[in-house]
Amino acid sequence: MDITITKTTSPKAKPADETGLGFGKIFSDHMFIMEHDKGEGWHDARIVPFGDISLSPAAMVLHYGQEIFEGLKAYRTPDDTIRLFRPEENFKRLNVSARRSVIPEIPVEDSIQALNELIKTDVEWVPRTSGASLYIRPFIFAADPFIGVRPSDKYYYIIFTSPSGAYYSTGLNPVSIYVEENYVRAVKGGMGFIKAGGNYAASLIGQQEAHAKNYEQVLWLDGVERKYIEEVGAMNVFFVIDGCVVTPELSGSILPGITRMSVIELCRKWGLKVAERRLSADEVFAAYDNGKLSEIFGSGTAAVISPVGVLSRGERAIEINGGKIGEISQRLYDTLTGIQYGRIPDDMGWTRKVEI
Ligand code: PLP
Ligand code: COI
Repeated sequence: MDITITKTTSPKAKPADETGLGFGKIFSDHMFIMEHDKGEGWHDARIVPFGDISLSPAAMVLHYGQEIFEGLKAYRTPDDTIRLFRPEENFKRLNVSARRSVIPEIPVEDSIQALNELIKTDVEWVPRTSGASLYIRPFIFAADPFIGVRPSDKYYYIIFTSPSGAYYSTGLNPVSIYVEENYVRAVKGGMGFIKAGGNYAASLIGQQEAHAKNYEQVLWLDGVERKYIEEVGAMNVFFVIDGCVVTPELSGSILPGITRMSVIELCRKWGLKVAERRLSADEVFAAYDNGKLSEIFGSGTAAVISPVGVLSRGERAIEINGGKIGEISQRLYDTLTGIQYGRIPDDMGWTRKVEI
């Protein structure tokens, strides 16, 4: 794929203090754009200065939400190379999302090439501080100016990047979550298994109510029986019950997280018992009552491994592992971030060097 590069003539100042980056607020100098038109395919791949884009008010994404995205990170290692964590998995998942939302797919190698060129262009934006990284946001949306309901005749594929720190303001300190019993995020047959913008729109009201009750996130239940645990707003969820690491099975309504897959692979490699199965909220509370629930944690690109300190449902709130990070959560956090930041050998072959 040919990519033309136009560099900015007015580079922005980079954040002076990388310890206070927060998440997703600062954007690097450039972005990648490619367009798709009916009969023409993907064309005009280019890297241009990061900036506003112009769209017709009739652009279909603004009315019917035909949009999908990904989230991954680039890390600077001690020997000053830049590494991506399992990027092929993100771009394969982008194509799964594309198929479900009738958006044209993009060859995985083209996405990798585009991302490599973008990071090369903005390499100075990859943070140097431990715990910070370059968050990458690829997304595709429908741009056809037409207000009938049908798949769009025009799409944009954009990738931009954002130097970021911890997703939750609590960092690695345990988060508190609350079992949502009124609203559901997705149902089997819908779009819950892909990264579609609309899924997040559906989740906002639950998150708002959780915040009003002083919880950081919502734990979603299945949309049919409202019994079985699905996932948290921006992460998959794991429970350590009687020594076994249990996570909801990929039912068709939860996102198949790449961190989730990596957690399962690591736990199996360490000889821990792992189960991907249906798990009800009742079972979790019963395991707590029997003294068998030792840890809860979430997994995600932005969230990394986030221990859960408090789980609440209705009037009841339980404290997990004394509100502290558990042994397995800590080991997973140390191993995953160790591999990502190049502090420990990547025995799993998960990282990919960016060619600068
Ligand atoms: N579930 C949801 C709803 C998410 O938004 C994310 C974040 O991408 C995840 C799970 C975790 O997925 P991954 O580990 O691929 O980042
Ligand atoms: C991610 O972990 O990459 C996400 O996309 C989570 C969120 C910011 C939507």
